Amino acid sequence: MKRDSDLSRRDFLRAGLVAGLAGGAAARLAASVARESIEPAQRGMPVIIASGNGLRASERAMAMIKAGADTLDAVVAGVNIVEEDPSDMSVGYGGLPNERGDVELDSCVMHGPTYNAGAVASLRGIKTPSSVAKLVMERTDHILLVGPGALAFAKAHGFEEVDLLTDNARRAWLRWKERLSKSDDWLDDEEIGAEAERPTGTINCCALNEKGELSGVTTTSGLAYKIPGRVGDSPIIGAGLYVDNDVGAFGPTGRGEAAIMSCGSRIVVENMHRGMKPEDAALELLQRICAKTTEKRLLSSPGKPNFNLNFYAVNKDGEYGAAAIYRGGTYVVHDGTTNTRKQSAYIYEGR
Ligand code: GLY
Repeated sequence: MKRDSDLSRRDFLRAGLVAGLAGGAAARLAASVARESIEPAQRGMPVIIASGNGLRASERAMAMIKAGADTLDAVVAGVNIVEEDPSDMSVGYGGLPNERGDVELDSCVMHGPTYNAGAVASLRGIKTPSSVAKLVMERTDHILLVGPGALAFAKAHGFEEVDLLTDNARRAWLRWKERLSKSDDWLDDEEIGAEAERPTGTINCCALNEKGELSGVTTTSGLAYKIPGRVGDSPIIGAGLYVDNDVGAFGPTGRGEAAIMSCGSRIVVENMHRGMKPEDAALELLQRICAKTTEKRLLSSPGKPNFNLNFYAVNKDGEYGAAAIYRGGTYVVHDGTTNTRKQSAYIYEGR
């Protein structure tokens, strides 16, 4: 186990804070972690918060909200830009595939004013799963459609079925596959010395308009090279997204299994319901997740998960905040005037 003297002062403080969590001092604990994103309230102003890859999404969504569009129409139109962009390999068209080379997409939406939601999981062949999730909400009595059923539903509504695997994504998948094992027949290029990476990525975007209406969307190609059929948090209401029109909206990116296990989105919105500011609400859950992560395979060192989670929250008053387990997370905020990328608060400097 690492000695105290091996820990940075900040990490040491946080390690103590995590240990003390069981004592119920969550608000005090969250107040002691590193903060880089405290923001003043933006009462009466529209606000859009998104993951770091959401700059164009927030720009389009804010323009639509200012033109009078519904908050959900706006955020879905915003993330459609990223879903259709093959250069973002974490979302939609061009997203990294599962272990067999098939791209499987997850998405959900939630509309605050009607307290309604829709989602799709393991959807193949459709570039914009968030638009299909919105139709599940609007045109069915269900919340979640998966796999072939989700594809049939999308095609019934006129979506074009296309091959989502771009050349870049196919090459990345092949390199990963070649490096998996020395005892199979796929030859790798180990002389290059590169690690086989399994990137995660996702886009989350939540909006508040001047009337105080909230909506959100999360969309992803999920964990790269996943087992076919693996579903992450992004299509799970309460894990990958939650919106309460009386309280706030929240979404995560990062390790979906941790967001599902913690019912993360619902918990952060409940934290805000109990009076916590968005950033505090997010940090409190991250602290809890760190404290609950005890399996050796999920730890990089005692008390430190070997994965990251990034949280994005906005409340009914227009206050917003973002937090991650590890330093370096970014998020995007459009406050009605400026659209900027910012640094997220965090618990640990590094792994
Ligand atoms: N958070 C995205 C995923 O784990 O699939």
